Amino acid sequence: MGVNFDYAIDRRNTNCSKYDGMEASFGRNDLLPLWIADMDFPVPEAVTEALKKRAEHPVYGYNIFPKGYFEAFASWTERHHDWSPKSAWVCHTPGVLTALSTAILAFTQPGDPVLIQPPVYFPFQSTLEALGRTVLNNQLLYEDGHFSIDFADFEEKAKKAKLFIFCSPHNPSSRVWKREELERIEAVCRKNNLLVFSDEIHCDIVYQPNKHTVFANLSEWAREHCIIAMAPSKTFNLAGLEMSHITIPNKELREKFQYLLRYGLHVANGNSFGIAAAQAAYTHGEEWYRDLMAYLTGNIEFLDEALKKWIPQVKLVRPESTYIPLLDMEGLHMDSQELWDFMIQKAGVALHAGRTFGPGGEQFMRINVGTQRANLQLFIERLRTALARR
Ligand SMILES: Cc1ncc(COP(=O)(O)O)c(C=O)c1O
Repeated sequence: MGVNFDYAIDRRNTNCSKYDGMEASFGRNDLLPLWIADMDFPVPEAVTEALKKRAEHPVYGYNIFPKGYFEAFASWTERHHDWSPKSAWVCHTPGVLTALSTAILAFTQPGDPVLIQPPVYFPFQSTLEALGRTVLNNQLLYEDGHFSIDFADFEEKAKKAKLFIFCSPHNPSSRVWKREELERIEAVCRKNNLLVFSDEIHCDIVYQPNKHTVFANLSEWAREHCIIAMAPSKTFNLAGLEMSHITIPNKELREKFQYLLRYGLHVANGNSFGIAAAQAAYTHGEEWYRDLMAYLTGNIEFLDEALKKWIPQVKLVRPESTYIPLLDMEGLHMDSQELWDFMIQKAGVALHAGRTFGPGGEQFMRINVGTQRANLQLFIERLRTALARR
């Protein structure tokens, strides 16, 4: 039997960031939480069963990654992305961000310029700053509700960069880069011998008719010059179990990365529950995933139509991927601080401020539609009422 995604689960008092951590981020705990990127849905039944089974064995010592675990991941990526990574290519890190830090430390030096494409997932910038690297911004262009790459600028910046942190699909623009765009990116990187960290954590949450292309699948050169980061955390809502798969086909790069992970950072052991959950999700999660995509598609339709009907000043940047699309708030004529205050104090909603994603994000707020549709209805009602009172 399928999951009822409309059924609301009370997540309060489970140490969850989205609800229990709201006060720390927004100064209030009574907001409608549509911010941090996890979903309010239960995981596939097979994952719960695998976790129970693992919990029944009362010893939680150090782990290995079983063969079946790699096979489950490779089989998933083969079915969904025409890509079958060899198990020897796959490294484990607790999170994609751990992998990002490891790659920055392994492949660049302090002060080195590293290229990113804002407005983009904000830890890209903060990680570079924390590790003393220089941020090179190739700001995305925004026109008629659509983001695209400024290729002329990209070509210039790529000449100087030592590493390119690519977000594909891109958070928060929700773009799924088209094959032609990816080929242009690849050609510039190849010309400049630029290593690519391709963060593909959102690759499974892609809406029809868009199609994700794994960077390593673009060419022989791409395969030998990339680090591909994927995880079951967004797809199956497992962020709290801290699992991600980092695939590095090139042996020399992989050995350098693994060496730092194992002997410098000590984060390569894996989590007993994470391994069990990820393997079960990739093996048995297909039907749940199909239902999830149908529900998220319905949520996006609902939100888009409701905004057009009731609040046409606020526009949904129609997502090609992710459950965390942007809302274009330009029509409200508020600056980014006013928007932030208004959403918290007047509308009673916790959204992510677009400005946190860097230059180009100021006129947006990011909304999380990975929730019951009734919450999106509530969002519309609260925002409508607040705007009417304004
Ligand atoms: C593009 C992107 N990369 C990485 C992450 C975080 O990954 P992890 O929790 O595995 O470090 C997120 C979370 O929202 C994300 O959107």
